[in-house]
This record gives sequence, structure tokens and C-alpha cells, in this order.
Amino acid sequence: MFSKVNIKVQQEQELFNQIDPQKLPKHIAIIMDGNGRWAKKRGLPRVAGHRAGIQSVREIIETSAEIGLNYLTLYAFSAENWQRPPSEVSYLMGLVEEYVLKELETLKKNNIKFQVLGRIHGLAPSVRTKLEDARQKTSQNTGLNFNVALNYGARLELVDAFQEISKRLLDGAIQLSEINEELISQNLYTRDQPDPDLLIRTSGEFRISNFLLWQLAYAEIFVTPVLWPDFKKLHFFQAILDYQGRERRFGKVISP
Ligand code: FPP
Repeated sequence: MFSKVNIKVQQEQELFNQIDPQKLPKHIAIIMDGNGRWAKKRGLPRVAGHRAGIQSVREIIETSAEIGLNYLTLYAFSAENWQRPPSEVSYLMGLVEEYVLKELETLKKNNIKFQVLGRIHGLAPSVRTKLEDARQKTSQNTGLNFNVALNYGARLELVDAFQEISKRLLDGAIQLSEINEELISQNLYTRDQPDPDLLIRTSGEFRISNFLLWQLAYAEIFVTPVLWPDFKKLHFFQAILDYQGRERRFGKVISP
């Protein structure tokens, strides 16, 4: 008779064995949703859900590194999230700060390259300094690329890109005819990274919520009812397996 832990490990192993390592997505993006509902179900304050969500963040990063994923992007704080109660905003920022401080050594040890996507200059200096420090100290790593979207909005990202491109156009550094998809991609926060192949959203909502609008053009979308603090290795493997069962056509017709 297996103990609970062993059953979990056995189930994870069974799913892992079904994953085709040749067909792993290169880039997985996740909208981590449902922390508030997770806490409410337990009669806890919303912030308890965010704190519990950090355990899932750790497990998914660790699993991503383990299976050899190249890019993982987690949506931690949108530009719209400033409209939440100030106490929740400062708790979330505190969590991010704490995470970076505590996990930097683990990121370094596991060859993980850490980066922030978003308007980093809009964050408080204490958070910004720690994020920048982690970015610098992991910049030479060659394993998993771990992006955290913070103070991120996809429309703002496009505004930033258009401003940058327009500046170069006005300066005469580029010609109008040089503005193409590649140039726009290269002026996004995700420059030099492949677009996500798989978008996972937890807690059952079917929305993109202003996340990576340009980059998700051909992503496969996996929505699970599981709330983020409950989303673990097993669910991550289920999402990857589901992705591997999809036929990706990129607008083309695939002959039978
Ligand atoms: C959505 O749940 C979750 C967030 C807005 C924050 C997620 C952030 C973390 C787990 C911390 C991340 C930190 C790092 C370093 C990656 P919600 O509050 O919208 O939940 P609800 O829809 O149930 O109310």
C-alpha cells in the first residue's frame, strides 16, 4: 500500500514518462490566478493565498529546470494590479522582494537566468534594486530562462516598443520599410526569446488579461480549474501532455 506521498510521486512519474522530451514546448507562460479564491475557501485573508502561491512558483520553477525547459514566464503583477487595495499591493511587492532575496542562491546553483518583463522603473527602489541584482548575478547562466512579468501590461509593452522604433525612425537610424514583425519582436521586453508555445491559466478563467498579446499569437492555451496555490508538478505535466497532443497548424493546412 502506497502512502499519500508515494502515490503523488508515482502519479507524477507516470505522467513524466508519457512526456516526449523531443516535443517539449520551448517557452511556457503562466497566468497564475486564483490565490484570492484559494484563501477565501479557507476563511483566510487574500494575502495568505499569495503566500501559498509562492510554493507553487518554487515547484514549477524547479520542475521546469528539471525537465530541461528553456523559457518560463510567470505573470506576477500586472500594470492594472496597482488598483488593488494598497495593503495587498505592498504585500505582493514584499513577497517578490523576499522571494528574490531567498531564492537567488538556488537560482544561481541551478543555472537559472532571471529576468523581469515590465516597467521596472515603476517599481519601488528597494524592489527594483533586488531584482536588478538578481538579473545581473544570473545573467551568465545558461539553463532555464525564468521571466517574471511585474508591473507588466502587454499594451504598455507595445507602446514602449512603438516609441523606441519611432525614435529610431525620426533619428534616421531606420527606414519605414525596415519596420517588420522581426523588428517589433526585437523591441519587446522578450527580445531574443522565442514566443510562448503554451499558455497556462489557472482557476478556470478564459481570459488573456493583457498578457504577452503579441507573443501569444500562436500559443496553445490550457485552462485548468485548479487554483494557483494548488497547481503543482502533476498539473504542470498534465498541461504539457495536453499540449503534446495538439496539432499545431500555424494557419496552414496539414495534409492527412
Ligand atoms: C492572482 O490571484 C495572483 C496574483 C495577482 C499574484 C500572483 C503572485 C504571486 C504568487 C507572487 C509571485 C512572486 C514571484 C516571485 C513570481 P488573484 O488574487 O487574482 O486571485 P482571485 O482571482 O482568486 O482573487
